[in-house]
Amino acid sequence: MRKITKKFISEHIYLLLGIVIGLYISSFISAGLDLSCTTTENNLRVDKRLAQEIINSSINRLAPKILPEKPQGEQKSTFVRPRYYSTELGIREKLFVGIFTSENKVNSHAVHINKTIGHIVDKIKFFITAQYKLKTKFNLTGLVGFTDARSKYRPFQVIKYVADTFSMDYDYYFFANDYTFINVHRLQDVVDKISVSMDVYLGTKVMGSSYCNLEAGIVISNSVLRAARKYLEWCIMNAVSDDYSENIGRCIHHSLNLSCQESVQDQTMPSFKLKEFNLKSLQTLSKNADFNAAVTVRPVIANDDFFRLNAYFLKQRLEMYNRQISEISKSLTDSWPAGQRPGAVPATRFDMPRQQYFNMTHIFLPDDFTILRSHTESELVDIQNILKDVTSQVAAQHPKEYEFRRLVNGYKTFDLSRGLDYTLDLGFRDLHSGKEIVKRFEVCKPLGNVEFIPVPYVTENARVSIILPVQETEVYQAMHFLEAFDTSVLAKKEKTLLLLVLLYQYNSESKGSQDVFAKLKRFVIQASAKYENEDLKISWLSIRLPQAKFPLLMENNKAIHFAVTDLALKKIGLHSLTLVLDVWAYVTVDFLNRVRMNTIEDYQIFCPIPFRQYSPFVTQLAHLEVTKMSGHFDREEFRYVAFYGSDYVKARKETESEIPLIRTDNDITKLLKSETKKKGNIFDMFLQHGRDVHCMRATEMNLKILYHFEKDRNRMNKFYGNDAQLAKLLLTKGDIIPELM
Ligand SMILES: *[C@@H]1O[C@H](CO)[C@@H](O)[C@H](O)[C@H]1NC(C)=O
Ligand SMILES: *[C@@H]1O[C@H](CO)[C@@H](O)[C@H](O)[C@H]1NC(C)=O
Ligand SMILES: *[C@@H]1O[C@H](CO)[C@@H](O)[C@H](O)[C@H]1NC(C)=O
Ligand SMILES: *[C@@H]1O[C@H](CO)[C@@H](O)[C@H](O)[C@H]1NC(C)=O
Ligand SMILES: *[C@@H]1O[C@H](CO)[C@@H](O)[C@H](O)[C@H]1NC(C)=O
Repeated sequence: MRKITKKFISEHIYLLLGIVIGLYISSFISAGLDLSCTTTENNLRVDKRLAQEIINSSINRLAPKILPEKPQGEQKSTFVRPRYYSTELGIREKLFVGIFTSENKVNSHAVHINKTIGHIVDKIKFFITAQYKLKTKFNLTGLVGFTDARSKYRPFQVIKYVADTFSMDYDYYFFANDYTFINVHRLQDVVDKISVSMDVYLGTKVMGSSYCNLEAGIVISNSVLRAARKYLEWCIMNAVSDDYSENIGRCIHHSLNLSCQESVQDQTMPSFKLKEFNLKSLQTLSKNADFNAAVTVRPVIANDDFFRLNAYFLKQRLEMYNRQISEISKSLTDSWPAGQRPGAVPATRFDMPRQQYFNMTHIFLPDDFTILRSHTESELVDIQNILKDVTSQVAAQHPKEYEFRRLVNGYKTFDLSRGLDYTLDLGFRDLHSGKEIVKRFEVCKPLGNVEFIPVPYVTENARVSIILPVQETEVYQAMHFLEAFDTSVLAKKEKTLLLLVLLYQYNSESKGSQDVFAKLKRFVIQASAKYENEDLKISWLSIRLPQAKFPLLMENNKAIHFAVTDLALKKIGLHSLTLVLDVWAYVTVDFLNRVRMNTIEDYQIFCPIPFRQYSPFVTQLAHLEVTKMSGHFDREEFRYVAFYGSDYVKARKETESEIPLIRTDNDITKLLKSETKKKGNIFDMFLQHGRDVHCMRATEMNLKILYHFEKDRNRMNKFYGNDAQLAKLLLTKGDIIPELM
């Protein structure tokens, strides 16, 4: 028998060789064709129209609408500032997760995945086939239903949907099947460590090919997603297989010449394949290094296994954090409390944070202007809480030895970089001897996490309408204001409206050369002509004050402020940002921008605390600069206030019964009755009647007020000069100026 075979082979050796070579070559050729992804078999190939149709095929209506692509016309040259910094800087969120699932697993697998990772990743979406309204059937949010049921094309529909809807928003996109458990913290570690500049197609290779396995999870970067989207038509036309992994891989290979990467910048995405899984096997698995290092685990069949695995990996993570914490804490013995910032080291003795003394009811010298005040409610609660904590700790450490009696001394220091530090001397009664002993305690309340408080969107583009009341006695100063305003604001072409409100006494001439305000009007006309083509306006409004025995002055009749604002708003309109100034103010563009940022319609008004000049005669300083020698922030000044007309009108309506609304000049008489004429504080009106509108008050170094004498008796600070300057004056000139003594 053997002999016969041998003979047969030797006789037909060439034939056999031919067959072997032929087989070899044919396999070579077909493999080559496969690699180049250009299979030409007709039944596999999709024509271009069909590819377009698949690309165009819409997703279910409940999913977000895809906006039509904008025509690529000429780029506009004007720079439009986007709404968020992140848009302009191209900052994106990190991780998008997309899960391929199916209708019958939405309520099981998908929900479990959502529960285990939905709150951790930036976005999660589940892709299913659905031809009906999703909401009526499923509770899960984040479902995307595709109307096209051909599963072969699902990866392309997903790429199309994700790229069109989310390509602006995320750095990395992770895709997996619904039976893949995702160790999400590990996944985050991986994407956090890869530079966003890389082209990433990271995962685990399918055995014997160059594609990443979808079951094991695939991470692609934003750049890869966009590239795949660009070549989508080709990808669909050349989709030869029903395998999602292969279809995705082929598409990426064609788009970027990228094969599955098993490691990018030292980051890998190990996946663990389970043979069986139950609580017992978990014990064995927990000793398996591959299992412990896995980013994904698959396949997960039973529902609870998602939670078991999740619990296992979270516990593993927790242990890791605890180890890290104890390791880091080892080096933290030199600060108290351990790990807290020690507080800023003051540059000079003048920068020391203020230490305030308090007892149970009062606080001493809380600021430069107050000697003693009682605690506010929250301060008191804070102190009580701290005493409770300290005494309970003493009781725990020395049971039945000491009884708390009283607070002897309390000191507190607030350091902006550290928090609030208390030093307390507490009196305890020694329960054995009955005597009081005093012990010192230190308590630190470190700063908590920094929180962002969302506020409405504002820009620096809003027009500021400035109301400038001018009295007959102030023409000279008003002229001064206008000249300064011309150079500091108008010449810079700021978007403003300056409305001079000219207050005529009942018998003053308002026409022709006798007009007291003729000079101002001339200036306005000239300026209007000069800036005719710019986005700024300047005009005036005349108001005739009612008849009176003496000239009516705003100092004595504060209510005129309301009259001025009521009447001016009729001219300005209710929807503009309005700023009330006076002729002593010196404003700059910076100040106007601060007003624009701090005044928000229906949300916030702004009442800056201006920097007010001391008398130049006392200070001997001609120029007004923000220094302690030349002036001080005037906390008693509420006249400068910015608001939106609509907010003003809302609050003003509430006060109507108290302070009548002014619609014409003749109504002003109603204001000047003795009970109302002293009420002229617009800020106060917002505080009391502004409802939800925030009243912001803050020092503003860009609003400077020139020195002027004010007859207000209630004023504490007359702004003659600072203590040292006045003392010096008193000592050197006391005999010359007797009033000073
Ligand atoms: C797909 O949409 C594009 C533009 O959105 C359109 O030009 C094309 O005709 C559509 N193709 C099909 C087959 O619907
Ligand atoms: C899915 O996850 C999100 C985010 O954590 C959550 O708000 C939502 O309730 C979850 N849905 C279900 C059905 O569990
Ligand atoms: C959706 O949620 C409601 C209320 O929680 C529940 O009664 C209902 O069974 C849920 N539907 C599904 C399909 O899970
Ligand atoms: C594709 O990548 C391979 C290996 O990474 C390289 O040899 C080949 O030149 C690349 N082809 C193109 C067209 O870039
Ligand atoms: C705190 O000090 C103020 C001012 O000396 C005093 O009036 C008040 O009684 C003190 N409160 C207590 C609880 O001692």
